[in-house]
Amino acid sequence: MSTIHTPPEFHDRLLSLSLARVTEAAAMASAHLVGRGDEKAADQAAVNAMRVQLNKMEIRGVVVIGEGERDEAPMLFIGEEVGMGEGPEVDIALDPLEGTTLTALDKPNALCVIAMGPRNSMLHAPDVYMDKLAIGPGYPLDVVTLKMSPAERVHALAKAKGCAPEDINVCVLERDRHIDMIAEIRKTGAAVRLIQDGDVAGVMHCAEPELTNIDMYMGAGGAPEGVLAAAALKCMGGQMYGRLLFRNDDEKARAAKAGIDDLDHIYTRDEMVTRDVIFAATGVTDGSILPGVKRTPHRYTTETILMRSKTGSVRRVIYSNPV
Ligand code: FBP
Repeated sequence: MSTIHTPPEFHDRLLSLSLARVTEAAAMASAHLVGRGDEKAADQAAVNAMRVQLNKMEIRGVVVIGEGERDEAPMLFIGEEVGMGEGPEVDIALDPLEGTTLTALDKPNALCVIAMGPRNSMLHAPDVYMDKLAIGPGYPLDVVTLKMSPAERVHALAKAKGCAPEDINVCVLERDRHIDMIAEIRKTGAAVRLIQDGDVAGVMHCAEPELTNIDMYMGAGGAPEGVLAAAALKCMGGQMYGRLLFRNDDEKARAAKAGIDDLDHIYTRDEMVTRDVIFAATGVTDGSILPGVKRTPHRYTTETILMRSKTGSVRRVIYSNPV
């Protein structure tokens, strides 16, 4: 008689501490490459360390947001199976080093990032750009939308916050493609915080405006980073929207391969991340959300933000380990 095998449930509470170990290990591995001018080496060190830790977890994991397609990335590629091959079936979105240039140049806000959820819980976003818009918790649904102009968003958010546009601070990636948008935002009176890289952190800033002084994130960045940011906001609270942007037919083909047929769809946070997930990020360089790895000749110390969307719990875990 054959027995029917039911895989164990996604036990977010038990899995979350192991997830912190994954980003801690990646951050410590890339720490000695901070400020060395070698983005690739820093990324590779984080990838290797993250993979070793993931393979120690009792999961049957599949990387759905990873380092790229199988033929582009030797490790942690999209579709790679990770974990011990026992335990719950999970989807994993990861960016072993979010901010490779920030790390190479020792600039703020480089993070090691991962999100994990039950199978089929995350949008399989292709490696294209995504137009993103995010705000923190406590606002009415759809108070700002991607269909509004940047100026309309500032005015709508100021009204909902009960302040003047001058009191709104918008975080934007510093790119030529954003020059017009930045000018339009500034014309309303609002301030713009320009970041060189790292829009997962950029979006997360919106969820803690009292600490970061950021009310809204907008602009185009990587779609994979968009899904990771949606996972973070699902845990921290806040609204997010994303629309994929395609520059050519090859990018459209990537979307088709990922099973996306409506190329103009505006995804909400909960369409990008459809079920409860866990999320961990460890600081590599000092930033406004997390301090970076501290190294003495004998010890590493890291700080990780570890979150569960089911409970909305946000933990900050300080870890210290002999070198
Ligand atoms: P990497 O660390 O992988 O280089 O990504 C950094 C990043 O700034 C992301 O946070 C952002 O989504 C993306 O690059 C923006 O892409 P581009 O540099 O092409 O504008």
